[in-house]
Amino acid sequence: MTVIHLDSTISDDERRERLFAGDIFIYSPSAASTALVAHARSLIEDAFAPLDPEHAQFAMPVADYANLLGRLKPHFIHHPTSKALVSEIIAELGGDLARYYFDVPKMRSSTSDNYLTSGIALAFPPHRDTWYSAPFCQINWWTPIYGITRDNGMAFFPKYFDTPIANNSEVYNYYKWNSTRATAHLDLTGSSQRVAPSARPGQ
Ligand SMILES: [Fe+2]
Repeated sequence: MTVIHLDSTISDDERRERLFAGDIFIYSPSAASTALVAHARSLIEDAFAPLDPEHAQFAMPVADYANLLGRLKPHFIHHPTSKALVSEIIAELGGDLARYYFDVPKMRSSTSDNYLTSGIALAFPPHRDTWYSAPFCQINWWTPIYGITRDNGMAFFPKYFDTPIANNSEVYNYYKWNSTRATAHLDLTGSSQRVAPSARPGQ
């Protein structure tokens, strides 16, 4: 059974144990997570100015939009402030930074009305991150940057947590993806067939 913990104060070790058993933890905004969101918004709004980023797709040629994301996302991901704020969040929530390895934060985006659905804005099918070469011990943290609604949130499928799922992860090669990711924003039609492992039909 999956338990959802709200603003839990249990220890980091106990939390990890519960996460690895399938539980989900939700935390209210903290000083560092609020700062990370403000930092992300400021980079996004600078990049899209004078347009409103949430509606920019209605006023931009799709190639320009994809190119903008191609610059914006790596800028945020590798920005020293992004990295510093992620470590602050870990510390705020009880993690011992001397014992943590963390990845730089990834910025996700999607568009509506089939404006841009491939390349840098590909909407991934339901998946396990391990199918994309994530280590089995990886713990994922998410935060919305703008308000979420039922149309742009993320779904969890807890009943599958400890159930094997047939999949085609054999098609994925992380080294190949790394060698092509820099040009993902040039793919406006899906012609490059960005490989996205998924469950096999019938699962
Ligand atoms: Fe994922």
